[in-house]
Parts: sequence; C-alpha cells; structure tokens
Amino acid sequence: MEYKQNIKSYVLRASRISSGQKLAIEKYSEKHCIKYSGQKLDISEYFSHPLCIEIGFGMGTATAQIAHRNPDKSFLGIEVHLPGIGRLLSKIEEDGIGNLKVINHDAVEVIETMIPESSVEGFHIFFPDPWPKTKQQKRRLINQEFTQLLVSRLKVGGYIYMATDWEHYAQQMLRVLSANQDLQNEYELWAEKPIWRPETAFESKGKKKNHIIRELYFKRVK
Ligand SMILES: C[S@@+](CC[C@H](N)C(=O)[O-])C[C@H]1O[C@@H](n2cnc3c(N)ncnc32)[C@H](O)[C@@H]1O
Repeated sequence: MEYKQNIKSYVLRASRISSGQKLAIEKYSEKHCIKYSGQKLDISEYFSHPLCIEIGFGMGTATAQIAHRNPDKSFLGIEVHLPGIGRLLSKIEEDGIGNLKVINHDAVEVIETMIPESSVEGFHIFFPDPWPKTKQQKRRLINQEFTQLLVSRLKVGGYIYMATDWEHYAQQMLRVLSANQDLQNEYELWAEKPIWRPETAFESKGKKKNHIIRELYFKRVK
C-alpha cells in the first residue's frame, strides 16, 4: 500500500535555535543521525535490538530517557523541529546513549519509503499536534491511512502506543485504531500510563490546563 500525505501534520516555522543546539547538529549529526534517503533501510546495519520508532519527539527529553533505561531495545526518533534535534543530539552525546538514532525529516515519508514492512517492534507517538480547529483537522497525523501504514511496518505482535491530552483527538485515535482489522486494543478502552513512559513537555502543558490524558495501546495481531 502506498500512502501519500498531501497535507503535512506540521508547519515548519523559523524557530529560534540556540548556538548550542546548532553546534550539536554540526558536531553529532554524522554520528547519531541517519540521513533521509527515500530508500529502504537495512535495519540490521543501524540497530542491533528490536526497533521502536518515536514520531515527533519535540525536545527529546522523554526519548533520551526511554532509550537510556532500555538498553535491550533500539530506538529511532523522527522529528522536523531543528532545536529539538540539536537538544536530543547533545543529550545522546552527554549520556553516552548508544541505542538511539535520529532522522530529521517528515515521519510519514520516512516510514513510507525507508522502513521495511514487518520490521518494527513498536511505534511511540506522544502528544502529536492536536490541530483542534475544525478546518485544521485534516492536518492530524493519526488517520485511517497512516494507521494502515504503521500497521504494515509493525511485526505481528508489535504495538502502537500513543497519548494525547485533546479529547476530540483521543476519540479519533480510538476510532481509527479500533477500525483497523489487524489491530487489537490491549485495554477495554483507554490504556494505563506505562511505567516506561516519562512525562513529556506537552503532557505537562496539557496537565496545567487540566486536560485529561488519554493513552492507547494496540497490538498487531495478524
Ligand atoms: C505537540 S509536539 C509534542 C512533542 C513531544 N512528543 C512531547 O510530548 O512533548 C509534536 C511534535 O511532533 C512533530 N511532528 C509533527 N508532525 C511530524 C511529522 N510528520 N514528522 C516528524 N515530526 C512531526 C512536531 O515538529 C512537534 O515537535
């Protein structure tokens, strides 16, 4: 199946990037980033453990912690926001994290073109942009087609884990994941917060606004 997304799930704004973040990109990209190539990756060349992919890691604080605490897994973080890439590259270097690689590119294109079918243990999507206005909702990352793309890249038994603090988006996620014939909800409805997931920056913002945090955990069963 080919999924071409015409409307991006992000808008690239000229964001302030600190000199430290810029320097980290210059110094560490070669070592910790995989270049976007549009060609299928040889997973075993870069990753020696079951691979978990995080889409839209923001500043990458949770990403680095998860990788650091789970040395028996490999991680790939995909993000388009340069300050976050710089921040995460510094953190990888500071903490000597050897099981985490980064791609600076649109995750939809990366997954479509670079990630082989049935090769991924888990997808993590923490607090994706909610695009709350009705006219923006077409920008939301999680829809039926993208879910099918994720499923095709998962191994049977692999999982999709996501969280949001936007109720309307949570309901949409639940609807599209539940409608996918190859996925099974591991909970009756909403998942519990897994012990391995630290609080993320956008989760803290949502909590300050008294938003309810919704989590979803589905497995590919066939
Ligand atoms: C609302 S922020 C959440 C950041 C972080 N996960 C957290 O919970 O704090 C969403 C992030 O997803 C990134 N993003 C959105 N669509 C993306 C895409 N198609 N590919 C890569 N990154 C994307 C944005 O740049 C942004 O940094």
